[in-house]
Amino acid sequence: MTKYVGILTAGGDSPGLNAAIRGVGKAVIGMGMNIVGFRDGFRGLMNNRTFRLDNETLSGILTVGGTILGTSRDKPHKMPIGGKVMDMTDVMMDTYQRHHLDALVCLGGGGTQKNAYRLAQKGMNIITLPKTIDNDVAMTDATFGFDTALGIATEAIDRLHSTAHSHHRIIVVEIMGHNTGWLALGAGISGGADVILIPEIPYDVEIVAEAIRQRSRGGHRFSIVAVSEGAVSRETAVAIQTVDQRKQEAENDEAKLEAKTALQTINAEQVDSAWGLARELETLTGLESRVTILGHVQRGGTPSAVDRLLATRLGAACAELIRDDVYGVMVAARGEGAKPVPLEQVIGKRKSVPLDHPWIITARHVGTCLGDDE
Ligand code: F6P
Repeated sequence: MTKYVGILTAGGDSPGLNAAIRGVGKAVIGMGMNIVGFRDGFRGLMNNRTFRLDNETLSGILTVGGTILGTSRDKPHKMPIGGKVMDMTDVMMDTYQRHHLDALVCLGGGGTQKNAYRLAQKGMNIITLPKTIDNDVAMTDATFGFDTALGIATEAIDRLHSTAHSHHRIIVVEIMGHNTGWLALGAGISGGADVILIPEIPYDVEIVAEAIRQRSRGGHRFSIVAVSEGAVSRETAVAIQTVDQRKQEAENDEAKLEAKTALQTINAEQVDSAWGLARELETLTGLESRVTILGHVQRGGTPSAVDRLLATRLGAACAELIRDDVYGVMVAARGEGAKPVPLEQVIGKRKSVPLDHPWIITARHVGTCLGDDE
């Protein structure tokens, strides 16, 4: 019997999504199955808004950034509808059944894995692929999007060097990565940043300033500080930990809400923003400072060869798993191959940079300041 496959992309877009859609699509069609796309993540599934996928529409997208399907950060069980937040998983199940789907492929990061798992619990045959520039999805060696973003952030650091050098300035460059430091650490090492600050290592601003002063004393009157968007000072890390603890121990809803609000306030105040850090470093070192926020430029444009290859091979492996009726899994990258990992083992986990990771050891060996006293 011919199988029918649905596919959607959810969460933030990422280079390599189209390569993955093409990889899944071409392999599925090649195996004699049919495939249909849903637009704008789980919203398209809810509204039954489809996108025709065949050899014609799948052609020419390998090198294109973003996602031809569109994406959104909507969650199936918390859809904002007419001023209310509603659980629409049943409606999504109707669409799934209306199309007589045998499988639904969800391409996304950590949040999408969780949302897809919810649909699996409703009875859909779900299979996911790991995409994100943050590289923070658990149980996979790699996520597509990361390599492209790494290249963009590295090139930015390269370019910032000459201007920082010419003006004898500190340039604080903020790099994406959500709550993990893979991107800042990788780009910081590749671009030769003098200081790299990541969420996994809360920093002491005085230690950072001293590293910069030391460079000045050695004749290098400029510094590049690569700071991950989630990096925090030691003081903020303690404040977050205290409130988090309060949230865990809260005995009633009121106390839980109070702790949650306090946590949101700490995050919203962005006490350790790149701007605040640059100001502090200017005061502590006497060097003029500037800030560059790389932002969404890191997610845009054509995917690197590494991401195209990864997305295509995971996509093709996904088609093989559908052919073999393997569902409820994420297609993880394992070395040069792919491995199905049960979604239960993926969800609710974040792949942070381990403190003894080779990249951290490497950075320390080449004299990069990581904001701590090791
Ligand atoms: O998860 C990818 C990512 O680019 C993070 O690095 C960043 O924190 C976030 O998405 C930005 O989200 P948005 O595109 O919704 O502003």
